[in-house]
Amino acid sequence: MVAAQQHHHRRSVSNSSSSRAPTPAQHSQQQTSQATTSSPPAAASDTDSVIDEEIPIHTHQEQQPNPANMIPDLFTQYPLVRDPLVTQTSQVQDETVEACLPFLRGEEPEDGVFNEHGVPGLDREKHLNFLRQWLGKLPGRFIALDAGRPWFLYWCLSAMTLLGEDVTPYRAGVIETARTMQNPDGGFGGGGGQLSHLATSYAVVLAIALVGGEEAYEVIDRKAMWRWLGRLKQPDGGFQVCVGGEEDIRGAYCAAVIITLLKLPLDLTPESPAYREDGSVNLLTGVADYVRRCQTYEGGISGQPNAEAHGAYAFCALGCLSLLDHPARSIANTLDVPRLISWLSSRQYAPEGGFSGRTNKLVDGCYSHWVGGCFPLIEACLNGSDNKLTPSPEVSLFSREGLTRYILCCAQDHTKRGGLRDKPGKFADAYHTNYVLSGLSAAQHQWELDKPTPDPTTATTSTSPLDTAAAAAAAASEAAADAVWAVLPYLGEDGPQIFDNRDRVRPIHPVYTIPQRCVVGMREYFAGVEGF
Ligand code: FPP
Ligand code: ZN
Repeated sequence: MVAAQQHHHRRSVSNSSSSRAPTPAQHSQQQTSQATTSSPPAAASDTDSVIDEEIPIHTHQEQQPNPANMIPDLFTQYPLVRDPLVTQTSQVQDETVEACLPFLRGEEPEDGVFNEHGVPGLDREKHLNFLRQWLGKLPGRFIALDAGRPWFLYWCLSAMTLLGEDVTPYRAGVIETARTMQNPDGGFGGGGGQLSHLATSYAVVLAIALVGGEEAYEVIDRKAMWRWLGRLKQPDGGFQVCVGGEEDIRGAYCAAVIITLLKLPLDLTPESPAYREDGSVNLLTGVADYVRRCQTYEGGISGQPNAEAHGAYAFCALGCLSLLDHPARSIANTLDVPRLISWLSSRQYAPEGGFSGRTNKLVDGCYSHWVGGCFPLIEACLNGSDNKLTPSPEVSLFSREGLTRYILCCAQDHTKRGGLRDKPGKFADAYHTNYVLSGLSAAQHQWELDKPTPDPTTATTSTSPLDTAAAAAAAASEAAADAVWAVLPYLGEDGPQIFDNRDRVRPIHPVYTIPQRCVVGMREYFAGVEGF
């Protein structure tokens, strides 16, 4: 757990200079050779002259600190306490640390340029080029990825947006591609003629939201999508990911995102497995209960009840709850938050600084988002409650320095290929490029959500108890989806800002994972559409 140990390395917040120094390793060599050539002045006979010689050298070191010395030991050494039992798991963990350490210490890449904190810059242009290639026509050997085309659209456009690129020029391409992917049943498949799936539907909807515009929004047949979502809704509150397919928490999150972005009605038709004649069940009924049943004995969240907790599912759980109501109610009333925080914190490793997805597994760049992205939602839950124990927003629940070091030092492919990756030794890909950059955005920003307004159940005027519950749930979800998340660069107490200002990526909506203006644009458009 990095966060707890981090206190030993706290320094006051300072604006990082934009200067780039040689590698910490090179820098140390320079210091060493300087030290050996400027040996003590043997000829000096009086003590004062020795002191005079020393003072300027000392002052010089303070003004231009050796970057290697600016990297806390926490990120350059094996943990002090180590279990002596060697297992397959401990071996691959050691191999991972071994692969990361040269990058964390500033020894790799050999030709790297590091700032005063021993951190390399963000290779923005190389990453953009990498993404442009993935958006283009891929060679035949990539045929196996055909069922994931909506994902490639979303990952590339989202990552480009995070890097500050305007993606609206891709609008026509997105429209043309998305049109071929919606099936008559209402869902989007991975490509033309492929089975409708909630994950690919989610990816298409986000890609359309990213490029925006009426023509793009109108590609979606919302009525068919609404009916299809009803067919996926299950009596236990969850969603199947495709008709007759598995039911898991990805389904609940993807459905909640689609329902709220497209402003779909919540009622079910008789073709839904969850339909009740008395109208007591709608698309969002029982979702929170389903999520509750996914919290495990470890405190984390599994894909389905009674399975293993995993960071990707924790994000889906918190994201989905945050679209049902204000996180201070929906998360706090559904989950054991202290145990969840404990499990999430345990995902961050030292010396690597990044997150793992589950207990005893390895650090991986994509969890920078899946786990790192949980913290703004947890913070919104804690800060929205009147609990006096709630930490101030300046206090981070994870080590932002650790995550930033992992991302900038270990997760970038610094070669001319560009792109971001799982870990050193792995190839960069569009999935990791997007989620590593999303995680960097989480580390670099701080979100604040207004405290919740009174519970809508107490505000409704309906007389029927069923109407009351349904109307209250719908109102709570509307308010949650409309909530404005204020965002600021993080300037809290996690330590110095170790990245240069020019290496800040754009903020994204903590729940929808696209810029807030894209969320508002799509919701406002569909709010203005009469019926379907
Ligand atoms: C294990 O992979 C990965 C999982 C169990 C979860 C994968 C789920 C997602 C990435 C979330 C999808 C979300 C949406 C919104 C569709 P692994 O065994 O290769 O990795 P590990 O060793 O790091 O656990
Ligand atoms: Zn990964």
